[in-house]
Amino acid sequence: MMELSTRYMGRNLRNPLVASASPLSSDLDGVRRLADAGVGAVVLYSLFEEQLRREADENARLAAAGTESFAESLSYFPGTAGTDHGPRRYLNLLERAVDAVPVPVIASINGSTPGSWAGYARSMQDCGAAAIELNIYYLPGDSHASGRDVEQRHFDILAGVKAAVSVPVAVKLSPFFSATAEMARRLDLAGADGLVLFNRFLQPDIDIETLSVAPGTSLSRSGEARLPMTWIALLHGRIDASLAATTGVEGSKELIKYLLAGADVVMTASALLRHGPDYAAVMLDGLSRWMRHQGYDSVDEFRGLLAVPIGADEAEHGRGGYVDMLRRANSADTGWW
Ligand SMILES: Cc1cc2nc3c(=O)[nH]c(=O)nc-3n(C[C@H](O)[C@H](O)[C@H](O)COP(=O)(O)O)c2cc1C
Repeated sequence: MMELSTRYMGRNLRNPLVASASPLSSDLDGVRRLADAGVGAVVLYSLFEEQLRREADENARLAAAGTESFAESLSYFPGTAGTDHGPRRYLNLLERAVDAVPVPVIASINGSTPGSWAGYARSMQDCGAAAIELNIYYLPGDSHASGRDVEQRHFDILAGVKAAVSVPVAVKLSPFFSATAEMARRLDLAGADGLVLFNRFLQPDIDIETLSVAPGTSLSRSGEARLPMTWIALLHGRIDASLAATTGVEGSKELIKYLLAGADVVMTASALLRHGPDYAAVMLDGLSRWMRHQGYDSVDEFRGLLAVPIGADEAEHGRGGYVDMLRRANSADTGWW
């Protein structure tokens, strides 16, 4: 009997494939389809700090006006009042999803500045969220912001969410720190129960015909898995927080590679958007077939097999691979080395 079960932030999951935050989890039917396809857990799409601040402002305004008018407050979110993608709809969906599916449902909250909005994580917990995924999406474009300021911002936001909840909190973070491993270790020490590596930043393109900036919203490709995989291999076994891989999972191959690098769970969004939620079953089948072929009975037998060995000089390891690769590439036609 093949054992796919996995632990993520202290919880048992039936397998390590997790549906990442995306529009696929924006309604109950979508969440059901993901669970039916066999994923180990579902992360709901994100509620944004901006939405939460607006809701808090509106609640304060209603309180000051002495009214509890629900209809009036619903109309507050411009452009979303009809369909209401705001906090109330989110919590309602979360509550129904938790009741409807047999796998943990993780709520996602997305912010970039510390503030009381983080307290909304408590409402997510109250609605049954198994954990909170805190997406800190911040691009430090301000040239006066120092690296330490940017890092401190992460710790302050995390502290706000941790203070609000008792369920585990995962931090989805950027790959762009001067010292990613140190940042991961300090987030771990600051109480992050999981690290989701990494946020995929929007990178707009330029259209040279229309002379306009085109939004960079394409789905990922497998080559993009290399960056998170490199860091997961370097962090595996070195911190207590669980490691979740996200980006570039096109099929079961990348799922397996991430597990070999040391991921506790592997998240997927683009592949499910491209092929439909049922594709999760195809990926899991690919994992089981590969395990059978390799003679593995459980995921734990091979997780982290290709991580950077504990005791290795991590900096030397990274530098050595780089120098070797360039030496081989260059020696073929230039003889420089
Ligand atoms: C259309 C779309 C919507 C997304 N929405 C969210 C979101 O609300 N919150 C979040 O944390 N990530 C969001 N993501 C990022 C994904 O969860 C995931 O981390 C990223 O796409 C990389 O994984 P992939 O290569 O499997 O797509 C979104 C991605 C896509 C493509």
